[in-house]
Amino acid sequence: MKVPKRLQPLIDDGLIDAVESQLMSGKEAQVYVVISHGERRCAKVFKEAKQCSFKQAVQYQEGRRERNSRRARAMAKKTRYGQKEQEQAWLNAEVDALYRLAAADVRVPQPYGFIDGVLLMEMISDAEGLTAPRLDDVILSPEQAREYYAKILRDVVKMLCAGLVHGDLSEFNVLLATDGPVIIDLPQAVDAAGNNSAEWMFERDVDNMRRYFGRFAPELLGTDYGKEIWALYESGELHPESRLTGCFEHDIGTVDVEELMSVIEDVREEEAYRQGTRNRGDEPGVEEAAEEWRESQRER
Ligand SMILES: Nc1ncnc2c1ncn2[C@@H]1O[C@H](COP(=O)(O)OP(=O)(O)O)[C@@H](O)[C@H]1O
Ligand SMILES: [Mg+2]
Repeated sequence: MKVPKRLQPLIDDGLIDAVESQLMSGKEAQVYVVISHGERRCAKVFKEAKQCSFKQAVQYQEGRRERNSRRARAMAKKTRYGQKEQEQAWLNAEVDALYRLAAADVRVPQPYGFIDGVLLMEMISDAEGLTAPRLDDVILSPEQAREYYAKILRDVVKMLCAGLVHGDLSEFNVLLATDGPVIIDLPQAVDAAGNNSAEWMFERDVDNMRRYFGRFAPELLGTDYGKEIWALYESGELHPESRLTGCFEHDIGTVDVEELMSVIEDVREEEAYRQGTRNRGDEPGVEEAAEEWRESQRER
């Protein structure tokens, strides 16, 4: 395909050899399949970067954390330099998170660099070598649902141990690769310790996964890992290998199937609604979302 303008600098620098196709475009970014160093990779172009006057100069390298005191002081003082730096910090949030998570052994796309506002990363593929489907695109057997749920919970624990909460974890932001689920789309990842919303965001993330996998293995709807994991985290006892019970787990033998089916129906309707509002671009604000979520917890 014709090279999009934003990818031209990477072509000029020899980081990309060709652009193959564009993947479905979301709210904040466009994702392209490109050929880079002889293999297919994904290039995520952040739309917001267009409006920024600065040129991204920093190239990320393995494990590199960008922290310098001039930058920190400028940000604190909100100087013009600081404002620019803040924009940049936002743009870099996903790249930063990917490097941290890859280092913490969370299954995320391997990042290969952030150049001129473009994130180059591993292309997650399926058995045929095509881009992997999102969880929302697949139908799972109950066994697969249980296995992938367990894997995602493990990754979510490792992520929290690394100090991060995804903040928008859902069946739209998890791809299904040949080796299992892969978490993507992290620009809004929040610092678990330094953000007041981290707890409810974390519980909402886990709850989204519970409800998604619960569609295929309804007994999972009775688990409550979110609260359990957060309690361990808060008390300083959470480790990547922490044993979890999913406490409040209900005895499978006593599950009321009719009630479960109605819960599943509710989840479907809510999801359809959420998709609708998302597409219209009038998603509720963070506070409203928090309140809505708390409300749903009280009802449970
Ligand atoms: N590393 C990747 N490998 C394969 N497909 C990807 C990759 N990153 C993103 N995609 C595809 O592009 C879509 C949009 O990417 P995402 O990071 O979720 O951004 P947004 O939702 O903000 O547009 C995803 O739903 C997925 O289908
Ligand atoms: Mg997404």
